[in-house]
Amino acid sequence: MGLSTPAEGVARATQGGSAGRVVRVSGPLVEVEGLEHVAMLDVLAIGHAGLAAEVVSVRPGLVTAQVYEYTGGLGVGDPAASQGRPLSAQLGPSLLGGVFDGLLRPLTGRPVWLTPGSLEENTGKTWGFVAGSSPGQVAGPGTVLGTVPTPSGVEHRVLVPPGVSGNLEWIADDVEVTDTDTIAIVGGREVAVSELWPVRTARPMRARRELSAPLLTGQRVLDLLFPIAKGATAAVPGGFGTGKTVLLQQIVKWSEADVIVFVGCGERGNELADALADLADLEDPRTGLTLLERTVVIANTSNMPVMAREASIYTGMTVAEFYRDMGYDAVLLADSTSRWAEALREFSSRSGALPAEEGYPAGLASALAAFYERSGQVETLGGKEGSVTAIGAVSPPGGDMTEPVTAHTERFVRCLWSLDRDLAYARHYPAITWHRSFSRDAEAVGAWHASAGRPGWAADRARAIAVLAEADRLAPMVELVGLAALPGRERTVLLAGRLLREAVLQQSALSANDATCAPQKQAALLEMVLAVYDRCLSLIDQGVAPSVVEESDLSGVTRVRDEAGPDDVASVEQRRDEVLTALEKLGELS
Ligand SMILES: Nc1ncnc2c1ncn2[C@@H]1O[C@H](COP(=O)(O)OP(=O)(O)OP(=O)(O)O)[C@@H](O)[C@H]1O
Ligand SMILES: [Mg+2]
Repeated sequence: MGLSTPAEGVARATQGGSAGRVVRVSGPLVEVEGLEHVAMLDVLAIGHAGLAAEVVSVRPGLVTAQVYEYTGGLGVGDPAASQGRPLSAQLGPSLLGGVFDGLLRPLTGRPVWLTPGSLEENTGKTWGFVAGSSPGQVAGPGTVLGTVPTPSGVEHRVLVPPGVSGNLEWIADDVEVTDTDTIAIVGGREVAVSELWPVRTARPMRARRELSAPLLTGQRVLDLLFPIAKGATAAVPGGFGTGKTVLLQQIVKWSEADVIVFVGCGERGNELADALADLADLEDPRTGLTLLERTVVIANTSNMPVMAREASIYTGMTVAEFYRDMGYDAVLLADSTSRWAEALREFSSRSGALPAEEGYPAGLASALAAFYERSGQVETLGGKEGSVTAIGAVSPPGGDMTEPVTAHTERFVRCLWSLDRDLAYARHYPAITWHRSFSRDAEAVGAWHASAGRPGWAADRARAIAVLAEADRLAPMVELVGLAALPGRERTVLLAGRLLREAVLQQSALSANDATCAPQKQAALLEMVLAVYDRCLSLIDQGVAPSVVEESDLSGVTRVRDEAGPDDVASVEQRRDEVLTALEKLGELS
């Protein structure tokens, strides 16, 4: 037998069944005496209700745990027992289309957090299992044993779990099973359609791959200026009301991921409810099913117990890795990682740990790194290609970008999509600023576009960024000396900057035509603005007065993004030609 897997930590000493006794309760912090054989991060069941808790410190005779539920009513002397395993998520066919709490307990139909209790291992549902392998075969971790037909458009593949390998001795076929019924025996070990995995441990893979293909999001400012590769990481820092949630939800709806895991972490519950209703209405163009059916929602909104928030982003990451292992591109979104960090801070201050920056625990940076590190484009244990892309919103208090959560996050992510209050006030949405944002994937994505038949993508992007930066440099000068004092070419840069912002970067989440935008239309819009810019420059060079160029009617350029459908390139090209012809006439007239 091979090495024991983290999940087999499960098997470790359930002799920890020794009876413990609660001796102190302070909010989510509980101290227990009398437990033996307890290890760090083991799950405890606390009190008569069996509240789920996780061991965070062990001393002789005394165990400290963080409880994931309200501790109201819990008293000294209440019982406590160890489950003898770390906090684990039940991964199986019930996930897609479902809504769960931070410990992956289903919320649909029955709000578990109102009736606290221990973690259940069986959803009680039954699944059909169709074998895809036959007995006698040698199977290893990641071997596809078969599939579970689900209503979702994503095929649910049942894999041999990590750590299990050997001869496929027996396999069921065409049967109805529950989550825990055996469907195969591999190397003497029973395998079910669902498996338990400790959420704080990254699921193993064979190799990491270079990032290359973009995760297209349908949002122009991202895809054109700050693209993210599949398997990369991004942070979305932004002050109050600057559009973090809307941006993340746009990615949920329109990105070309196979599976989306959305972790609602300490944010407003009604927003999440609205988003769910939206997803249940919208159709996935690829499968014809609703978008909700490719989505797993993990909800720990502000009205729910604070500590489960701390676990929720690891739970979400584990679910994303589970689908990655099936060979899918999974995207994990967390709104907001700042609320998650607040849960860390709340607990560490109660446990009397020495606070570091702004009261956050000293381990904040490593906790953030450990989370983002789990993303990647990988070769799975079964030899498939899969990816987890992680995107987290950050809400710096008072918009202060130097505060610890924002500052540490910036160090660990490959893309920064920084939201700007001034742009949001000006109703320039998405309010992503080109000053502070970056993408370390732009070069690889440029090469990908070139191989997809868009060789001009990288050059157009560079030019757009240069024009935006130059226009921003000139704007204060105009305020100082007036527009008339600037040379014609510089005035044209200002015009081009405005066109880029209005015709390309602005994109309303509420527009029927423009909520999402195909890469071809994105490229056509950008190319149109750059062509108009070039034509204006040549008019200036011909001696046309700058004011004549500025006053020409360019509203058609800014309107077309909304008038043409999401992949209607022809209308954009037609508009470009009309505007260029009109500008040419302008040159002939003067
Ligand atoms: N892409 C967009 N298109 C249209 N409107 C937008 C867009 N982005 C943001 N908005 C507007 O901005 C408002 C606030 O956005 P949102 O709720 O996403 O902000 P937030 O940063 O998540 O705020 P909070 O800090 O309170 O969580 C939205 O209700 C919407 O009116
Ligand atoms: Mg929000």
